[in-house]
Amino acid sequence: MDNAVSEIITKAGTDQAAADPVQNLGPDLADFRDEVWLGLGQAQKTLPSKFFYDELGSKLFDEITQLDQYYPTRTETKLLGTHAGAIASFMGTGATLVEFGAGSLIKIRILLEAMDRPQAFVPIDISKEHLILSADQLALEFPHIQVRPVVADFASALDFGALVADSNSKRIGFFPGSTIGNFAHDAAVTLLATIGEVVGSGGELLIGVDLKKDNKILLDAYNDSQGVTADFNRNLLVRINRELGGNFDLGTFRHHAPYNADEGRIEMHLVSGADQTVNVAGKDFVFTEGETIHTENSYKYGIDEFLALASEAGFDPVQTWTDQDDLFSIHYLRAR
Ligand code: AVJ
Repeated sequence: MDNAVSEIITKAGTDQAAADPVQNLGPDLADFRDEVWLGLGQAQKTLPSKFFYDELGSKLFDEITQLDQYYPTRTETKLLGTHAGAIASFMGTGATLVEFGAGSLIKIRILLEAMDRPQAFVPIDISKEHLILSADQLALEFPHIQVRPVVADFASALDFGALVADSNSKRIGFFPGSTIGNFAHDAAVTLLATIGEVVGSGGELLIGVDLKKDNKILLDAYNDSQGVTADFNRNLLVRINRELGGNFDLGTFRHHAPYNADEGRIEMHLVSGADQTVNVAGKDFVFTEGETIHTENSYKYGIDEFLALASEAGFDPVQTWTDQDDLFSIHYLRAR
């Protein structure tokens, strides 16, 4: 792994108001190959969900967020808008915001507009092209805020505190979208504890968490009738074929997204429709008919259940907001 080697990419046509050059600490092709080999070599084959977000995958995810059946994005966005004033007063003056898994940077605009003179914004995301474009656009719209994008897998053991650097303004993490749901209990605690180190004692975290609810609503959100989620899931194989010279036969893998009530999570799988052997970067992997690749977990929480997890990671609750249908929650937390 040469993740630690920082590769500074300078932008063409430097614009005064544009974001800082991106710091690239993201996984490289060899990391991708190794993780794919490792996952496909297990008894229950798995692929890490963080690799969904190549250029097409990021586009497909943005499409998912617009679907009627996918309630999380619009519900969270509405919650942020409704409570922006209260959130901004907790945040105070001149804070530095660090967003984990920044994506298209739509939700952050609601906060930046409501906040009193935020000093800097550090978006961290694994998807380089997507991040650069969104960060530059944001910097143009908010010329008084330093925008310092970091390409990285935020769950990796990087010193994100050092990346946020310099300012002695209050640090506030922003972790929307229920991305925390991609992590099982122990990994979620570890990740939140890492965020706690980044923001420091007295620092804060605004986090969006999807709630447990009627199974039908959950199942519809991950099995949309237009098949966008299925395309998003299968795109992982498209990406492996392209970037790692794989030979997955896409037509033989179907999307499967059940709710696992014991674990409290939606699971996404790709089911092989045949006995077959697939080659990825020179290694063979044998599939039997009906065997699955587990591509994602999306854990759902009760309010108290989530606050207990946050507490294990060193965060005290400040305030929780939910929509009237109890679909989604946002939590303002403070690091002990
Ligand atoms: C971005 C991880 C929060 O789990 O709901 C959407 C990803 N997967 N549809 C989620 C996703 C299938 C999403 N997260």
